[in-house]
Amino acid sequence: MDPLHNRPIVLGVSGSIACYKAVDLASRLVKAGALVDVVMTANATRFVTPLCFKSITHRPVVDDLWDTNAEMAIEHVGLAKRAAAILIAPATANLLAKLSLGFAEDALQTTVLDTRAPIVIAPAMEGDMYGATTTQEHIARLRARGVVFVEPESGRLASGLSGRGRLADAETILGTLRATLARGGDLAGRRIVISAGGTQEPIDPVRIITNRSSGKMGFALAEAARDRGARVTLIATPTTDALAPPIGTELVRIGTVIEMHEAVRAATAEADALIMAAAVSDYRVAHPAEQKIKKRGAAANGLTIELVANPDILTETVGDFVRVGFAAESEDLLANATQKLDKKRLDLIVANDITGAGSGFGSDTNRVILVGRGGVAEELPTLPKREVADAILDRVAAILATRQKGER
Ligand code: PMT
Repeated sequence: MDPLHNRPIVLGVSGSIACYKAVDLASRLVKAGALVDVVMTANATRFVTPLCFKSITHRPVVDDLWDTNAEMAIEHVGLAKRAAAILIAPATANLLAKLSLGFAEDALQTTVLDTRAPIVIAPAMEGDMYGATTTQEHIARLRARGVVFVEPESGRLASGLSGRGRLADAETILGTLRATLARGGDLAGRRIVISAGGTQEPIDPVRIITNRSSGKMGFALAEAARDRGARVTLIATPTTDALAPPIGTELVRIGTVIEMHEAVRAATAEADALIMAAAVSDYRVAHPAEQKIKKRGAAANGLTIELVANPDILTETVGDFVRVGFAAESEDLLANATQKLDKKRLDLIVANDITGAGSGFGSDTNRVILVGRGGVAEELPTLPKREVADAILDRVAAILATRQKGER
């Protein structure tokens, strides 16, 4: 479940040219199911009208603390108390200074001073203003109080100059907000290691042995685990390069099975769960050629490549964590999956039917059966990979909770 869904979010907007980007943020928040209340500074209303935000959020916009006719003017106290989180984007240098010093001159400053909700701030300003010692001191002071910052990006600024000061992109801001909201989730404090994509085994400097995994299933798991509060290490192969890594997760890029094995071993040293969604090559080339293999000489009429077995990462990575495997099968789905559950000594296996349309490699949806220890199977309909991910994480959370009880 998206941590933004049904959550009251205050979107604070201060007077920067990047205000127009806050309109897009408001729209994305509404689409994600958040209940968005926009609080604008007086200068923000010079760039974008409150009506613009009201048309998107379908709620009154707070822009004047002193307007006795405006129903929301005194309601800002209620907003501060009700908010699940306050997101300020864009935040100017002026606003950062005032928040850092505890000013309460307008509706936005008052709301921030009056809240106990987590605060996420995305600054936007000229590069030299952002780099100024005073601005950095205010940021450091706010950080020390628990405020989460989304660093501005470097690039061309409204002045025409270049520098660090462009508002971070919407996905980064919302990913940070989601990760912040997830702190109270059912996987809060848990470390989860997830593998995604198809491994690549070199034949020579040009060719590889790989498979059709896009990484969508593993990335959906990483995003869902992050949204439930987990600290996620995502071990991803080059076949996932087209996907945006979920903000707030640790991304480890690898290529071969040996590299994935090493990354999994390192990441699981302190993990609570390992979920292997990656399609891992069972074999690698015994002697990859150093130079490109030419179609001449011994290889003119055919080529034989010697393969050796790769380590089975799931079987060989042992430790006191929940172990989840996938089984992508084109026949005898349950029988093959159950065999892998036993052989690899897993807590859960996700039997993945790759025969139907909209399931398995590359698709946005998946059709799976979850099989736990003792063979208890739960068949799910074809669902978006994000929903499959949440169903898997429900099981992981339940196993972790049972183990914790046993420890007491
Ligand atoms: O990435 P997508 O395009 O979204 O597609 C998702 C998926 C189809 C790749 C995914 O849902 C899936 O089913 N992943 C497992 C693919 C697979 O072929 O698994 P397997 O049956 O070969 O291996 C069983 C389990 O052992 C897997 O969890 C695998 O990661 C692991 N394994 C396999 C071989 C090996 N040497 N080491 C391993 O750890």
